[in-house]
Amino acid sequence: MHDEAIQIRQPTGDTETLRAFIRPVSTAFADDYTDEMFQMDRQLWEVDRLIGAVDGETWVGAAGALSMRLTVPGGEVRAAGLTDVGVAPSHRRRGILTRMMRWLLDQATERAEPVAILYASDGAIYPNFGFGMGTLRGTFEIDRHAFRFARPAEPLGRVRLVDVDEGMRLIPALFERLRTERVGEVSRHPDRWRLQLLADDGRMRPGLGMKSNAVLEVDGQLRGYAIYRVKSEWDERGAKNTLTVLELSGLDPAAERALWEWLAGIDLVAKIQAWRTSVPSPLFLQMATPRRLGLTIADGMWIRLIDLQAALEARTYAAGGTVTLEVTDAFCPANEGRWTLDVASDRGMASVSAATTAVEADVALDTTDLATVYLGTFSFADLARAGRLAELRPGGVAAADLLFRTAEAPHSATMV
Ligand SMILES: CC(C)(COP(=O)(O)OP(=O)(O)OC[C@H]1O[C@@H](n2cnc3c(N)ncnc32)[C@H](O)[C@@H]1OP(=O)(O)O)[C@@H](O)C(=O)NCCC(=O)NCCS
Repeated sequence: MHDEAIQIRQPTGDTETLRAFIRPVSTAFADDYTDEMFQMDRQLWEVDRLIGAVDGETWVGAAGALSMRLTVPGGEVRAAGLTDVGVAPSHRRRGILTRMMRWLLDQATERAEPVAILYASDGAIYPNFGFGMGTLRGTFEIDRHAFRFARPAEPLGRVRLVDVDEGMRLIPALFERLRTERVGEVSRHPDRWRLQLLADDGRMRPGLGMKSNAVLEVDGQLRGYAIYRVKSEWDERGAKNTLTVLELSGLDPAAERALWEWLAGIDLVAKIQAWRTSVPSPLFLQMATPRRLGLTIADGMWIRLIDLQAALEARTYAAGGTVTLEVTDAFCPANEGRWTLDVASDRGMASVSAATTAVEADVALDTTDLATVYLGTFSFADLARAGRLAELRPGGVAAADLLFRTAEAPHSATMV
């Protein structure tokens, strides 16, 4: 249902308009949205990718996209990273997000971005628009003294703290190496590193404390980094600080372990928590008492195949073969129908085409569910067990999994 009084409109780039434009988002999240935050956001926005809704002259809806690249099996794909989505509480459920989403997906199509990605405030919102869970993320919280590895390891290198300027010289380049090998990871603009990821922006400091950036060097070579916050808390028994790991990445498992051990040795810390670990987390296999982590799994990055054919052709497949998918897609009907993936056995590239009428489909599923198998987070067998697909040909599920399976579970440490 469209409310004709409400218009979908792009904001101009002047300060007054942008401030009014973003209000539905800051109101929705009940942020104490300071001028400092606005000035930072403003530098990160791509103004020609912002879209909003006005009722008269009042901005009542806002959303935006960032130009990103997403690592997929065997390569990468251009992606619209959707962000800053909000509708004023006075104007909810009148189709405003639906209209802004249409605009954003149309713009992504014009820019040859076959997929859109986002982090959701609530998992119920985005399946309405064809998004499915693209990655999972793990969170945990553990008493520091229970954070013990089951097996000993040789000490590795040295860890030191770096300020934003030195962090900028070291960390983004290392991340870039990791990103291109980590299915599910997304590219990060240098401004984002400088203003948001390495800098201590005001947004999280009240809840999580001061931010630090640490690097691990082995024989003078950078091998990993950690970005974390420590919230100071004291009572009559002493310090009980909480250390929150925002990000920890190493070039190899030994580097990551060395960073975890270093963090676990920080004085005055009583509790360690982490928000975006991979699932399954290697720590679960490494800890002396894994249950004490209290590892919790939640939806991570959501993904929408906007141009299904281009998206499927952008990744590689694990085996040669042919599979035909019958896809429904209410929000982007151009994707509907039967699609045949023909994978040549040598390089794993697929050619994807509309199936001829003579071809019988292997499985039938909705685009939201295809999105969950796209990066390898779930399998067709998982979908079948959840009652989310129909196997149309005996063996169809197994045939599809043979092609789509990936060596490692995808992971994204980047909140889009
Ligand atoms: C989430 C939000 C943007 C939705 O905007 P909206 O304009 O109300 O959405 P629409 O009216 O276009 O809804 C489209 C469909 O999605 C459904 N939907 C929207 N928000 C939903 C939610 N939170 N839970 C379940 N369904 C939801 C609607 O019911 C509607 O379905 P229908 O077509 O079957 O009726 C808005 O409620 C909001 O700003 N919430 C607070 C901030 C927030 O969570 N932003 C998202 C950041 S990731």
